[in-house]
Amino acid sequence: MEKQIYKDANAAADGFAQYLLSKHKSQDSLTVALSGGSTPKILFDLLASKYLNEIDWSKIHLYWGDERCVPPTDDDSNYKMTVEHLISKINIPEANIHRVLGENLPDDEADRYGALLNKNLQSINDIPAFDIIILGIGTDGHTASIFPHEIELMNSPSVCAVGINPDSGQKRVTLTGPVINNAKSICFLATGASKAEKLTEIFNKTGNYKTYPAAHVSPTHGELIWFMDESASIQ
Ligand code: 6PG
Repeated sequence: MEKQIYKDANAAADGFAQYLLSKHKSQDSLTVALSGGSTPKILFDLLASKYLNEIDWSKIHLYWGDERCVPPTDDDSNYKMTVEHLISKINIPEANIHRVLGENLPDDEADRYGALLNKNLQSINDIPAFDIIILGIGTDGHTASIFPHEIELMNSPSVCAVGINPDSGQKRVTLTGPVINNAKSICFLATGASKAEKLTEIFNKTGNYKTYPAAHVSPTHGELIWFMDESASIQ
């Protein structure tokens, strides 16, 4: 596991962008599972501006590590956020965008999206393997849409599952632990002082760390890199 600690969120996002660029230049094509929430906005804005002319998006396939079970026009939609900050500003073939259909019934969509990943992605040990998975961590310790009260999803036999935000009851379709751990590159982008408490527990194996999915992220064959800013990494 590697930690890259930057002075602020913009620098951390830029560090990840350069990592993504290095992978893009070294491989014919990339499958990338995006995270949602707000942290990735800085990254997406950088990819759509500073690095706009350095990426051939025809060679990158975008997926989502999790999606809220809402229509793509809903402000809660991770797809909508990604369109606003990235997809609307880059030249990417529609066929390279593989969104979770949040408007579907959750269980049906988890099955559909899991089948899509099994069909589209390389399989390693009979589990779909992304080239890159971008993950975040919530202030409550959730990652993707695996929440501490559903930590068993880190060992789910399914490719995708339905996670439930315990505060709002909102259902989400999420990758499960075995798929996350099967990626060639697992990259956390975690910034801001609000993440420091949980990250300290995870890195120091203290407190409730065992209930946080990130503590169970352990690549089966790939690499794990944390892109953080100083405020998130104060131990
Ligand atoms: C989601 C995300 C989720 C996110 C964390 C961090 O759909 O909510 O995928 O796992 O990465 O909640 O969210 P912020 O970046 O908003 O802090």
